[in-house]
Amino acid sequence: MPSVVLVGAQWGDEGKGKITDYLAEKADVVVRYQGGNNAGHTVVVGDQEFKLHLIPSGILYPGTTCIIGNGVVIDPKVLVKELEYLKSRGIDTGNLRISDRAHLIMPYHIRLDQLEEERKGANKIGTTRKGIGPAYMDKSARVGIRVVDLLDKEEFAQKLKANLDNKNNLLERVYEEKGFDFQEIYDEYLGYAEKIKNLVADTSIIIHDAIVAGKNVLFEGAQGTLLDLDHGTFPFVTSSHPVAGAACIGAGVGPTDISKVIGVVKAYTTRVGEGPFPTELKDEMGDLIRNIGHEFGTTTGRPRRCGWLDCVILRYAARVSGLDSIAITKLDVLDNIEKIKICVGYKYNGTELKDFPSSLKVLAQCQPVYEELDGWMEDTSQARKFEDLSINAQKYINRISEIIGVKTAIIAVGPKREQTIVLEKIFENR
Ligand code: GDP
Ligand code: IMO
Ligand code: MG
Repeated sequence: MPSVVLVGAQWGDEGKGKITDYLAEKADVVVRYQGGNNAGHTVVVGDQEFKLHLIPSGILYPGTTCIIGNGVVIDPKVLVKELEYLKSRGIDTGNLRISDRAHLIMPYHIRLDQLEEERKGANKIGTTRKGIGPAYMDKSARVGIRVVDLLDKEEFAQKLKANLDNKNNLLERVYEEKGFDFQEIYDEYLGYAEKIKNLVADTSIIIHDAIVAGKNVLFEGAQGTLLDLDHGTFPFVTSSHPVAGAACIGAGVGPTDISKVIGVVKAYTTRVGEGPFPTELKDEMGDLIRNIGHEFGTTTGRPRRCGWLDCVILRYAARVSGLDSIAITKLDVLDNIEKIKICVGYKYNGTELKDFPSSLKVLAQCQPVYEELDGWMEDTSQARKFEDLSINAQKYINRISEIIGVKTAIIAVGPKREQTIVLEKIFENR
C-alpha cells in the first residue's frame, strides 16, 4: 500500500485540498507536514464548502486519522477555532492527532510578522501576516515553544518568560511598540492546552505504524514549490519547505517510506503576494481567469495574480520534488478561451533558458516563450472520463505531460468530489 506525498507544483492554491479530499476516501492517514494557517484549502462536498487552514483535508471522512505533524507551526487559537468550526458543521474531529513536537505560533509572532511587513513598505513579501515566518525563525534559533511545552505548566511559564524578555525588548526598543503581558498569554494559552491536550501525541509513531501495517498514508503539502524556502523565489517565499522531501522531516518518516509523489498543477498559474511572475497576465485575460476561477485568497481574501501555465516552473517542480505524476486542476476554468498559451521556456538576454533561474533579477527579466494551442470552447465540468473531454482539451493535457516529462494521473474539472477524472489510480479504487 503506498504512502503518497501530494505537493503544490506552483505558487500554492493549486487545489491541493480538493485532490487530498478526493484521495482521502481511500487513505487511512492524512498528514500535514509543514506550513501553518497561512494555508487555505477549500474542499467542496455536495453543496457544502469547507475551508481548512491547519487540519488536514482528510478530516471530512469519519474513518480517516488526520495528523498535524511536527513540521507544522500551530497557532492554537486558530486550531481551537477550526475544531469548533468543524464540529458546528457536523464533522467529527476525534480522529485528529497533533504532534507534541510541533512549534507554536505566539501572539508576538503575529505582531512581528505585521510590523516587519509594514517596515519593509514597498519591499514587503506580502505574507499572510499569520506569524509563520517569525515562528519558524524561533524554531531555527532554538528558542521556540513546542506543543509538548504547552502541556507542562512550569516549562511553558519558563519558556514564555524567556521569550517575552527578548520579544518585548525588541518590540519596545526597535519598533517602539507596547510589549505583551505574560499573564495574559499564559492564561489564554493554558486554555487552549486544556482543549487540545487529548489530541496530542508522538505522531511519528502513528504514521510509522500505519506504514508498517501497509495502510494508505497521504501527506498533504501546503503552499507550493516556488514558495519553498530553498527552492522558491527567495525572498518571496514562505518560511517552510513545501517540496516533497520535507514530508520526511515534517512527519518523522524516512525517505524509504515514501512510495509516490504527486504534484498538483493548476491548469494556469496564480500567485498571491509579491515577487516576479513571468507569465502573469495584467490584462483582461488575467481578469477573466481570476473571475471565472474565483481566484481570491482563501486565507486573506486578496485577489490572486493570474497568468498562463508555465512549464519551466513545472519541469523544475518535477525535478526538486521527484514527481511521479501530476493532478491537473481547474481545467474547466479555461473552457471558453479561444487560444490558450503554454510557456515552454524563458528568453533572457537573447538566449533561451530551459531551467528556472535562481536570481530574481534574472527571473524578473525573463520573457516567456509561448506555444499557442486551440481552446476547446466546450463545457468540461461534466466530463468524468478522459474520453469525455474534447480533442483540444485532451491535447492540452497531453502537451503539458509531454513538455514536463511527467504523466497525468488526475484531472479536476470542478471543485466537487465527483468532478474528477482518474487516468491512473493512486490508491486502490482511487
Ligand atoms: P489549495 O490551497 O491548493 O488547497 O487550493 P485552494 O483551495 O486555495 O484554491 C483552489 C480553489 O479552486 C478552491 O476554491 C477549490 O474549491 C477550487 N477548485 C479545486 N479544483 C477545482 C477545479 O477543478 N475546478 C474549479 N472550477 N475549481 C476548483
Ligand atoms: P496554500 O496551502 C498561496 C504566500 C504568501 C506570501 C508568502 C509568504 O493555500 O496553497 P507567509 O505568510 O507564508 O510568510 O507568506 O507565501 N503564501 C501562500 N500563497 N497559497 C498558500 O497556501 C500560501 N501560504 C503562503 O501570500 O507571498
Ligand atoms: Mg490555498
